Amino acid sequence: MVQVSALGPTDTASTVELLAAQRESAVVRSERGLEVLRYQEALEALRHPQLFRAKLFLWRHDRIGLGPGFAREFLTRTLNSQEGEQRSRLRNPLARILAPRSIRKLTDGVQDIVAKILDDIHNPDDVDFLEDVCWRLPSMVYCMMVSAPMELAPTIQRLSDSILAPMLTVDPTRVRELEDARREAYDLAVKHIEERRRNLGDDFTSALIREQIDGNLTEQELHDIGAALLEASVDNTAHSAAITVARLLERPDDWHRLTEDRSLIAGATEETIRLWPRFRTHMRYASEDMDFADAALARDDMVFISVAAAQQDPAVFPDPEKFDITRPLVPGTLVFGQGKYSCIGMHLARLEMHVLLNAVLERFPSARLLEFEEEEGPFIRSVTKCRISLSGN
Ligand code: HEM
Repeated sequence: MVQVSALGPTDTASTVELLAAQRESAVVRSERGLEVLRYQEALEALRHPQLFRAKLFLWRHDRIGLGPGFAREFLTRTLNSQEGEQRSRLRNPLARILAPRSIRKLTDGVQDIVAKILDDIHNPDDVDFLEDVCWRLPSMVYCMMVSAPMELAPTIQRLSDSILAPMLTVDPTRVRELEDARREAYDLAVKHIEERRRNLGDDFTSALIREQIDGNLTEQELHDIGAALLEASVDNTAHSAAITVARLLERPDDWHRLTEDRSLIAGATEETIRLWPRFRTHMRYASEDMDFADAALARDDMVFISVAAAQQDPAVFPDPEKFDITRPLVPGTLVFGQGKYSCIGMHLARLEMHVLLNAVLERFPSARLLEFEEEEGPFIRSVTKCRISLSGN
C-alpha cells in the first residue's frame, strides 16, 4: 500500500499529492490513519455502519484546548456526538423540518432577502461580496426560518463564525471566543424558543416545539437543537456561496452562458462544489477491529475521507480537472456527507446558493471578479477575500 508520508496529525497533503496517490490506490496509509481517495470507496466509508463519527466532535475541540464547562457539556449532548438510537431521536425531527418540501416553501422569502441584500449595496463598482452578501444571506434566512427579528442577523452571523471557525480551522487562540459564543447562542436560542412557545405559528421553531409537545424530544433536547441549528445554518453556506459565485466569475464564458440559460444554475453550482469543496476531508473512526477496502483497521483507528480527491476520481468524473457546468448531477457531491450523518441543511444551502446566483445573473450580468483569495486548511477551504464589481466597471 502506498504511504503518504507528508501527512501529519495536524497537517494534510495538497490535492495534487492526494491525486498522485489516488492513481496508485483507492486507500493509502498515512501517519494519522487511513486516507480514502477514490469516489466509490469514499461513498462506502461514509455509509459504513461500523465507521463512526460521534467521538470526533469532542476530539476536534480537544485539539484546540477546550476544557470542562458549559460548551463541553453542550457538545456531549448534541446530535454530532451521538450514535445509534439517540442519534436518530435527535436527527429525525430536524430532518423532518428541513426536508425538501419545507425548504421549497421558503423560496419566495429567500428571494426577498437576496433582493434586499443587493438593494443595500452602496457602491456596485466594488463590493465586499463575502461580508456584505454571503455572510448576510444565511444569517437573514435563519431569522426568517425561525421567525426571529431580522435585527438579530448580525449577531447570528458573529456567533456562527465564533463557534464553528475555531474548530474547523483548528485555531486554539479562539477557544475562549468559542466558549463565550456557545453560551450566548444557547441562551439566545432558549429565549427565542420559550417566547415562541406562547405564540405558535408555522415557522421552524414552532415545528420543533410541536415535536417536543408530541413527545419526540425532551425540553433539553429541544433547546440543544435550537442552538445547534443556529450555528450550523450560517458559516458553511457563506463560504460556499462565495466560492460558487467567484469561481464562475473567473470563467467569463461560463458566466455568459448562465446569463442566457438559467437552467444551468444547479449544474454550475454542483461543479464549483466538486472542484472546490468547502469540506476537503470528512473523518470517521473504526468502532471495532475491522477491514475496510482491504486495509485492516483496529478499533479507534482514524479514517480520513478525501472529498477533494474523490471528487476528481477519473473513474467517476471523466476529465476530472475540467470545469464543466453541464456535467450530470449524478453521481453527486460528497461535500455534504452521506447517510446517517449527512448534512440536514443541504437543501436549504443549495436553495440559498441558487437564488443568490440567479439574482446576481439577472441584475448584474456584467459582474466582474476583482479579487478572490482562499485558504486550504486540513479540513476545509475558507474564503478570505472576495471583491466583486457587480456593475462590471
Ligand atoms: C454549503 C453549506 C453547507 C455545507 C458544506 C455543510 C456541510 C456539512 C457536513 C460536511 C456535515 C457533516 C457530514 C458528515 O460528517 O458526513 C454537516 C452536518 C450537518 N449540517 Fe451542514 N452544511 C451546510 C449547510 C448547512 C445548513 C444551512 C444547515 C442548517 C440549516 C446545516 C445543518 C447541519 C446539521 C444539523 C448537521 C449535523 C447532521 C448530523 O450530525 O446528523 N448545514 N453539514
